Amino acid sequence: MTSLQAACLQAALQVGYHLLDRGSSALLAVEHTIRVLERSGLFNAGKGARLQLDGIQRMDASIMEGDSLRAGAVASVEGIIHPITAARLVMEETDHVLLVGSLATKFARCFKMERHRLQTPLRHLSYGSMLKRKKSSLDRHGTVGAVALDRTGTVAAGASTGGIDRMLPGRVGDTPIIGCGVYADNETGAVSMTGWGESIIRLAVAKGICDRLTKGNTPATAARLVLQKLVARIDGSAGCLVLTHQGRFTIRHSTPHMMAGYWSGRGAPVVKDVFR
Ligand code: GLY
Repeated sequence: MTSLQAACLQAALQVGYHLLDRGSSALLAVEHTIRVLERSGLFNAGKGARLQLDGIQRMDASIMEGDSLRAGAVASVEGIIHPITAARLVMEETDHVLLVGSLATKFARCFKMERHRLQTPLRHLSYGSMLKRKKSSLDRHGTVGAVALDRTGTVAAGASTGGIDRMLPGRVGDTPIIGCGVYADNETGAVSMTGWGESIIRLAVAKGICDRLTKGNTPATAARLVLQKLVARIDGSAGCLVLTHQGRFTIRHSTPHMMAGYWSGRGAPVVKDVFR
């Protein structure tokens, strides 16, 4: 983790915490925490989103709140800085949960969302050569996510990403799939995932962790058991933020590192890249 990334994570935690402290909803805190990270260009989301093999940034995001179990998501959106806000708009302004591709981008633009287009040298790879270059790999540079609990006892979770290395155009990972990349339920808690999306999807990891909370596991045990299964059964790789409706939380990862942090409002926000 660079010092710029650490400072940005601390700033994002402060934005989220101050919103909660002033009585805002967990949903708003999650959205605005993630917006700081998307705007920074320092993480694999928003301005910093990774390119697909045709040289285009296509981004995924989702958000969910645990009171009414409302959720919204976008997949493969292009040219906007804040996919997390597009996901919230899907949740709040439509009867749908997920919008994809150029029509998700068109939807976002209806709300005059701030635009961003990365200028990349044109790539002239044939589809055949893209297939040769493609190889699933770890999400090394950080999908961003957040979980929060507000004064009313409502939890929320969100995540935003540019995907993984060497993605075929059109590839979508776990982040916009509710139950895989995020889940939030006031009866259990909120979960936000980072990592290799193909493995996270196959075990519906975020919902799996919530289900273990329902069975009475602590956040640390729930996360450990699900991540162990992910590694043992499908050689997967992930990290998670888990926060219960009683305010207990854990950060765990099966990867060697995971940049993350938390703040109780006292001292400086804690930011590290290894949590055990
Ligand atoms: N976890 C982000 C992705 O696989 O796209």
